[in-house]
Amino acid sequence: MLRLPRPLVVPFARWHAARAHLHNVGGQAIVVLPGVFDPVLTKVGAWLAGELPGWVRPGERWLEIGTGSGVVACALARAEARVTASDIDPAAVRNARLNAALTGVMVDVREGDLFAPVAGERFDVVVANLPFWPGNGGGLPLGRAFSGGEDFALLRRFVAEFGGIAPTAYTVLSEAFAAFPEARAALGSGARLVRRQRYRGEWMDLFELGACR
Ligand SMILES: C[S@@+](CC[C@H](N)C(=O)[O-])C[C@H]1O[C@@H](n2cnc3c(N)ncnc32)[C@H](O)[C@@H]1O
Repeated sequence: MLRLPRPLVVPFARWHAARAHLHNVGGQAIVVLPGVFDPVLTKVGAWLAGELPGWVRPGERWLEIGTGSGVVACALARAEARVTASDIDPAAVRNARLNAALTGVMVDVREGDLFAPVAGERFDVVVANLPFWPGNGGGLPLGRAFSGGEDFALLRRFVAEFGGIAPTAYTVLSEAFAAFPEARAALGSGARLVRRQRYRGEWMDLFELGACR
């Protein structure tokens, strides 16, 4: 995360979220539309877009939940995965479709809550950089991109439900988050730390749930 004095965080987030941004993520041009989570500002999306493609076995079906700009989904598709991506936010869905078109890859982007858009389907792997701050994000810029309900409600639903969709899931937590130990506990004892990345003193942890790959 950016290190700003606390009183400046929300004004900066509002200013940033109101603008479109163009990034180069691993050689891939990524547009971030106004109101959509920026995968470079917070680094997690850009990190996953660099890390996960190396894990793809060509032709595998990957699902990304909460795709935002679609940066991770596009990187997976470039690595020859068959990719479906979803987001609850219509602006993110439009943004991910735009980036898939700009990148020249096929990504099936759908709108809806968690696994609802893929009900009845099976995938090889599910990945999600889910919001886990408490609350519903009301009033904050990009509130739904950061807030996942009380007591890690969204994270808990993801953990409880991914097994009906895929044998393996990956999700990320930041150790800089004050309630990291509680968020880690919400993943359950079966979650394994498989990668860590340091950015400006912050550790971002990637966890594997379900069957090992
Ligand atoms: C932290 S952002 C991650 C975006 C992108 N994957 C990345 O890493 O840059 C979380 C995303 O999850 C989406 N989201 C929040 N609640 C959701 C839900 N219940 N179902 C699906 N997507 C959701 C938000 O709209 C946001 O785009």
